[in-house]
Amino acid sequence: MKLKDSRTYENLARSYAAECQARTRYEFIEYGARFNGYKNIADIIDEIVFQEFNHARMFYTFIQDGEDEQIDNIDIVGSFPFREKWDLQENLRLAAEDEDNEIKAYVEFANVAREEGFEEIAKLFEQIMEVESYHKMIFLELYTQFKDGTLYKKNKDVAWICADCGYMEFGKEAWDECPLCKAKRGSVKLILEAQKIRFNEKN
Ligand SMILES: [Fe+2]
Ligand SMILES: [Fe+2]
Repeated sequence: MKLKDSRTYENLARSYAAECQARTRYEFIEYGARFNGYKNIADIIDEIVFQEFNHARMFYTFIQDGEDEQIDNIDIVGSFPFREKWDLQENLRLAAEDEDNEIKAYVEFANVAREEGFEEIAKLFEQIMEVESYHKMIFLELYTQFKDGTLYKKNKDVAWICADCGYMEFGKEAWDECPLCKAKRGSVKLILEAQKIRFNEKN
């Protein structure tokens, strides 16, 4: 089957559109976080933004590589989330939900690609899906800690590190102002369980 005649062709285009939008939605969240002084949250989201860009780039590349002729248009039917407003906590929750919906779509798209004989594309959907599961965990954890007020306050002693200058201190609660460089609390490096779990799983 030629890629152009397959359902996978349209699924790639839909996924490309979804990744472009996810990237922009997260950029909105990142912008809001930075504006409100949550510098390290903004940096974490910034990394996800760049990863979504690269997902979009890979989907785009597979479309281009599968077609010799110039592609003028690809008609797609898709629905995309428009729920986020400007509330950081709520946006973190919605972003986790958006990731979950993408995971479900990519499971289906991988199956379709495999049925249609596009093994490499099936693998692409699966690899990206694994990353989206990680993104979902990050957003969920940030949302939960934000809601519970535990971003900078723990029930045991932990290491707090200033991302700006590297200063470190142990304690239950992070400083309001870094003792070394005077950076605000938003610069405290957030070390997320999701990152630790993923690293350990892969090692
Ligand atoms: Fe993505
Ligand atoms: Fe994602």
